[in-house]
Amino acid sequence: MLVGHGTVRVPLAAMPHPCVTVISVMAIGKHMHERWLEERHHEYYYKLAKKMDYRSRASFKLMQIDDRFNIFRDGDRVVDLGAAPGGWLQVAKERVGEEGFVIGVDLRPIQPMPGVPTIIGDITEDATMKRLLDMFQGEADVIISDMAPNISGHYSTDHARSIDLCMYAVNVCDRILKKNGKLVMKVFYGDMFNTLIKELERRFRVVKVHSPDASRPTSSEVYVIAKGFLAETRVGLDIPEEATENKKQFSVKGNFS
Ligand SMILES: C[S@@+](CC[C@H](N)C(=O)[O-])C[C@H]1O[C@@H](n2cnc3c(N)ncnc32)[C@H](O)[C@@H]1O
Repeated sequence: MLVGHGTVRVPLAAMPHPCVTVISVMAIGKHMHERWLEERHHEYYYKLAKKMDYRSRASFKLMQIDDRFNIFRDGDRVVDLGAAPGGWLQVAKERVGEEGFVIGVDLRPIQPMPGVPTIIGDITEDATMKRLLDMFQGEADVIISDMAPNISGHYSTDHARSIDLCMYAVNVCDRILKKNGKLVMKVFYGDMFNTLIKELERRFRVVKVHSPDASRPTSSEVYVIAKGFLAETRVGLDIPEEATENKKQFSVKGNFS
């Protein structure tokens, strides 16, 4: 005998207990519905990005965040961390206008974009930070970070790695974000989230958490929007001369223990 739910058919003999059976079939149905929604959502933004010539679906997340929270102004100087393939760079460049300046950093190369310099490097390494400071020359109005670790599929590992990357983005703020500057940053939600928020509240007047419509409905990612950088945690611009590709920055850990 087979129990059907939509197109899923499960052999009853393989099922341990009638109660478990009902719950399992309902769970499969819910899972399939979520997957369907997810695919529709993915396809919608994928097609829109293609049509509008954006390099990634992620562009729409930044547009929606900016429309709601007024992040960019004409002439702003912006650092984009985890910028490949360049969707956020396109949006940031459009929104800060001709007078603005945007620079991108990523482990992966980014297809050249007129007027937008990029750095290939790991922002957790001194050498990359040093190159960023050298090329950027001055303070930033906005730091944006869409950095994501390679997904292991293990929820708490991915969350911990995401938090780690966030703290490196916070470190970039401590070095070059100007007083009253803004930060937009992706984080995978999990049990260290509140500690991250506390680190941000020490540094910014206003900290908000938002999930834009363009984020996948089942994603654990959320975006933190922080405004009014207090600049009290500012650290010097000095990076040791002997900085090498393998050397990690040392001053980025929050109190996560
Ligand atoms: C979701 S993608 C960014 C998409 C981008 N915002 C866009 O709109 O095209 C995340 C990026 O973070 C980058 N990344 C992860 N860890 C990094 C690190 N330590 N330093 C620099 N980039 C990193 C990855 O290489 C990846 O390209």
